[in-house]
Amino acid sequence: MAKVKSIFTCQQCGYQSAKWLGRCPDCNNWNSLTEETQIRETRPSLRQFANPQPPQLLSDVQGSDEIRQSTNIEELDRILGGGIVSGSVVLVGGEPGIGKSTLLLQACLAACRRACQKLASASSSILYVSAEESIQQTKLRALRLGEIPKDLYIVSETNVDLITQYVRKLSPALVVIDSIQVMYNPDLSSGAGSVSQVRECSGVLTALAKASNIPVFLVGHVTKEGYLAGPRVLEHMVDTVLYFEGQRETSFRILRAVKNRFGSTNEIGVFQMTGCGLAQVNNPSQLLLAQRPKQAAGSVVVPCIEGTRPLLVEIQALVSRSGLVMPRRWCSGLDYNRIALLIAVLEKRAGLGLASQDIFVNVVGGIKVQEPAIDLGIAVAVASSLKEAPVEQQDIVLGEIGLGAEVRGVTQPEVRIKEAQRLGFKRCIIAKNNLKSLKIKGSIELIGVETVSEALEAVLKK
Ligand code: TYD
Ligand code: MG
Repeated sequence: MAKVKSIFTCQQCGYQSAKWLGRCPDCNNWNSLTEETQIRETRPSLRQFANPQPPQLLSDVQGSDEIRQSTNIEELDRILGGGIVSGSVVLVGGEPGIGKSTLLLQACLAACRRACQKLASASSSILYVSAEESIQQTKLRALRLGEIPKDLYIVSETNVDLITQYVRKLSPALVVIDSIQVMYNPDLSSGAGSVSQVRECSGVLTALAKASNIPVFLVGHVTKEGYLAGPRVLEHMVDTVLYFEGQRETSFRILRAVKNRFGSTNEIGVFQMTGCGLAQVNNPSQLLLAQRPKQAAGSVVVPCIEGTRPLLVEIQALVSRSGLVMPRRWCSGLDYNRIALLIAVLEKRAGLGLASQDIFVNVVGGIKVQEPAIDLGIAVAVASSLKEAPVEQQDIVLGEIGLGAEVRGVTQPEVRIKEAQRLGFKRCIIAKNNLKSLKIKGSIELIGVETVSEALEAVLKK
């Protein structure tokens, strides 16, 4: 009998070594290598789906947009690019308790209901694999979420081989695996959740999805740094990666597409956690601005773009005299280095004395915004707080800031301004460069600026 060889795999990044090492040379994590049995050949589990086909002309291949099915949850459909593509694998990640299981169970319920309306077709059933909770617990949750359709199958199983058998037998219209971290393949010696198990199980499920044309949703855990747990290969393997953002303390939940082979990325869906599941938020800007303080210094509204949708967010800054030798800089929902850069520009080019001040900047609602179009908003909020000069309630600001304190144009200004108009904003401070090509109808005053100082002059009330 051949000797069983063991291999040491880093549980953080998937690096493999023949010897045990205290520190992973790839990701520099300590004590992350564990011993696993090496598998040399492709196991039958993966091979059994192989379905060899000779090369074909792309023009002859059948395919249309018909292969998308709606989930009946509009926000989810939009993030997926218009519905679930058959045979696709979607990974949903997020912190514990953020609502992954809730959303997917809701999607199952909604999809079943839709199938019932459309007259039961051959495969209108759905399989929900609830590996983390017992089926009774899932039933309790489903009862909170609404009426239970008759085509929804549930199983509490972690063995990926058995799941494959169930899927083949039922051939459902959709499979949900909650979660991939607890799945295991009995052929491997390592425990569930280890890099090799996660990789192997997702490999099997992906192959199954492609071979049988059944879409599969996988729930994935995240590490404490906020990355999807398990190997990076998991993200490469699947077609779409959706990521839940938001703080557990607030009721807002944002679902963001990080990767999508069948649609645009950076599309977001906005939900709110309620007593009976996740509710869609159709007008997020309004909700985000609902509690905006009146005439408060350091608060400014900026229209940003998330995917194809404009979103008005409130940026708040607090500048206060520091008692520390190194004043504090803190931000939430924004890029820290960008804040440091903008503070330097304000200090050097606009003559604001910020060196001895603690500065805190926050985006309201636990939202993350990374685009440069909000630079001017951040600068205005900081200056407004420093000078104790509130920004007019009906103003928005829009522009990217360069190192020379010049205000640069942003992408898609029309979409942003229209959203602001819809919510009753009356004045927009924008880069002069953008002004030339803008065609805006209706009652919003556009003020073009070239430098940060000009913008501060225009927007801050004395
Ligand atoms: P869950 O969906 O189990 O999160 P995950 O699978 O991402 O770990 O949990 C969602 C949280 O939402 C949980 O703390 C309870 C809460 N919740 C509600 O507020 N209302 C509801 O109707 C449900 C089902 C859950
Ligand atoms: Mg869960």
